[in-house]
Amino acid sequence: MTNTRNTLLEIKNLKMHFPIRRGLLKRVVGHVRAVDDVSFEVFQGETLGLVGESGCGKTTLGRCVVRAYRPTSGEILYQAGDGSAVSSNGSGQPVIDFARLTSRQLRAYRHEIQMIFQDPYSSLNPRMTVLDIVSEPLVIHTKLRGDALKSEVGDLLRRVGLRPEHMNRYPNAFSGGQRQRIGIARALALRPKLIVCDEPVSALDVSVQAQVVNLLQDLQRELGLTYLFIAHDLSVVQHISNRVAVMYLGKVVELAEAKRLYQNPLHPYTEALLSAVPSTNPDITRERIILTGDVPTPINPPPGCAFHPRCRYAQDVCQRETPAWRALEDGHHVACHFADQLSLTGVN
Ligand SMILES: Nc1ncnc2c1ncn2[C@@H]1O[C@H](COP(=O)(O)OP(=O)(O)OP(=O)(O)O)[C@@H](O)[C@H]1O
Ligand SMILES: [Mg+2]
Repeated sequence: MTNTRNTLLEIKNLKMHFPIRRGLLKRVVGHVRAVDDVSFEVFQGETLGLVGESGCGKTTLGRCVVRAYRPTSGEILYQAGDGSAVSSNGSGQPVIDFARLTSRQLRAYRHEIQMIFQDPYSSLNPRMTVLDIVSEPLVIHTKLRGDALKSEVGDLLRRVGLRPEHMNRYPNAFSGGQRQRIGIARALALRPKLIVCDEPVSALDVSVQAQVVNLLQDLQRELGLTYLFIAHDLSVVQHISNRVAVMYLGKVVELAEAKRLYQNPLHPYTEALLSAVPSTNPDITRERIILTGDVPTPINPPPGCAFHPRCRYAQDVCQRETPAWRALEDGHHVACHFADQLSLTGVN
């Protein structure tokens, strides 16, 4: 894993609010604030882990990045390398705001960012052969046809550890791990630069999870890929992430180099998630922090810091004021009023 610190993607104040409609007239009666003012960068060639409890907005954020959703507001600045500048940053490289492109304008960039989905059973169309599934993006975006197309699909299958002769079979002939490999081959077809991996191993048997993770890491090295790697808990992304972002109720609450975040968390929510990560040192027994109360709904998030009703360190100010998202030293970002004062427990 290389980390050259060139910014590939910069997300600024991103919001995705889904309207809730009621009644005959389908009037908007509220909004689900699935992603609510999120800002961070993704560096070229890195794996950025994105973790948080179910419903905190991880998939929605990923879907905004691949522009399956058009965000409500904010910017998704993508460092494109092909010279067709829409605007320009200091480095002279063209920077495109994905958030505002129309679907027609997006066509030119769609291939650069791809997504791998959580459930390899429902994400592959059971009526399409592997050839159809993997070649579909090539048919849409390139002029490859006939034998050349088949040969390209054969190469892609080999790359993900499957055999070219598998291409005439249907998804139901494959195991979960193999199906996820088919999904990866499809995502690779257009030679993307960034892949949003949405819990790519959560639905797989523990025994095959490591194989798929290893494959993703090998591909990253060989092809210079950048990953936004979504997972439920911190143990999944511990060894594969260069940096980790922790999300709570539509907001990123902490982001840091992986080692730093695990050893020296600054947000009480991160500390609670870390208390569930097994320690590699059996002599250390740590207190498991049980988060009390339900995850609040993103329709009506608590005022102030959204985590305050479940936070063991909460003070009055936490109920009133939303903590700012601020950068501390060495790229450690956090949104907590007391980040400088608390001494939280990590894992070693
Ligand atoms: N299309 C949609 N319309 C309305 N609400 C949505 C939509 N998609 C997601 N939501 C809501 O947005 C919030 C975030 O959902 P999202 O799927 O992004 O969470 P997640 O972190 O990926 O959860 P999980 O870990 O369960 O996959 C949830 O409250 C969800 O119900
Ligand atoms: Mg999800």
